[in-house]
Amino acid sequence: MTKTKIAFFELKKWEEKYLEDRLSKLKNVEYSFFSKAMNSSILKKVSDYNILVPFIYSKIDKDIIDSMSDLKYVTTMSTGYDHIDLAECKNRKIKTSNVPNYGENTVAEHTFALIFALSRRINESVDRVNSGSFSPDGLMGFDLKGKTIGVIGTGGIGKHVVKIAHSLEMNIVAYDIQKDKRITKKYKVKYCSLDELLTTSDIITLHAPYNESTHHMINKDNIELFKKSAYLINTARGALIETSALVNAIKQDKIAGAALDVLEQEAVIKEEKELLSDEFQDDIDLKTALENRFLIRDPRVIVTPHNAFNSREALERILDTTMDNIKAFLSNKHINKVKK
Ligand code: NAI
Repeated sequence: MTKTKIAFFELKKWEEKYLEDRLSKLKNVEYSFFSKAMNSSILKKVSDYNILVPFIYSKIDKDIIDSMSDLKYVTTMSTGYDHIDLAECKNRKIKTSNVPNYGENTVAEHTFALIFALSRRINESVDRVNSGSFSPDGLMGFDLKGKTIGVIGTGGIGKHVVKIAHSLEMNIVAYDIQKDKRITKKYKVKYCSLDELLTTSDIITLHAPYNESTHHMINKDNIELFKKSAYLINTARGALIETSALVNAIKQDKIAGAALDVLEQEAVIKEEKELLSDEFQDDIDLKTALENRFLIRDPRVIVTPHNAFNSREALERILDTTMDNIKAFLSNKHINKVKK
């Protein structure tokens, strides 16, 4: 019987060990682990593989799919799936799955870590003490109690954000294309239009998926609606925000600051050392890369390295669900289908 070949990408050593313990119990499978994202040299090694298991920096695009005639299944170790060409997978009848629920509380907790860091000026406070001073002068923050938080996208993560905000006695407004009546009652959430949310919120936090309709949903036109004292938080996907619009708003004091776990074109930053390699030549948007540099350096902006999902508990849930997806595929079932 021919073996099913599975390639895993972007794995840490402990994750390899965790998966190996589980994969060794499966029959008729052969697997390879790669610590890097999919690239042209890895592609040569896996061109006859049947299952790809990428994380978000492995772009599974048409060229890759075209080069893999035996590919049958792509199961991503993430909730987001904008790195996979779903239309091409559909054309080729390649099944796709994701991990829908691994980190709802985890990402919501990171969102509030960022909000607290801004409201209590944690970075500047730590820098102050590290520089040898113990003076709180100029480090006055603000309370969250009584402030209005605008939650864009009240799905799994957004709902956890709502729950935490409610416990902090914040006022909550929300915008979503699908309203959830339960949270309206339970956490006193007021759904409104995007423009009303942007106009009335002290803190605006993004939890919508990235797709054509959400591309640059915060842009140069609607950033004008923000209160000058407002903060923008993004733990969803970088390209939900038009980076140049945010940079200009910060430069011109149109908003107070931002905290970003994700950046538009963040792969370029991550792979900076490889910028000059052939693989990257086509895809680089240098203007956005430079704007990201500005955001990283500006003291009113906090940037974390796409780290919101990164807790031990969440990562184990990702690996467990990915193994469930693979086991189901091997027995001709399709679970956790990517919903477009
Ligand atoms: P979800 O699918 O449970 O919720 C998304 C919500 O956004 C839904 O309620 C949906 O109706 C809403 N939505 C869709 N299109 C919209 C639009 N045009 N305008 C307003 N709302 C819209 O997804 P979940 O689990 O809450 O995750 C949200 C996003 O967070 C993911 O798509 C992913 O990109 C990102 N994420 C980031 C992580 C990180 O480490 N920074 C980790 C996990 C997810």
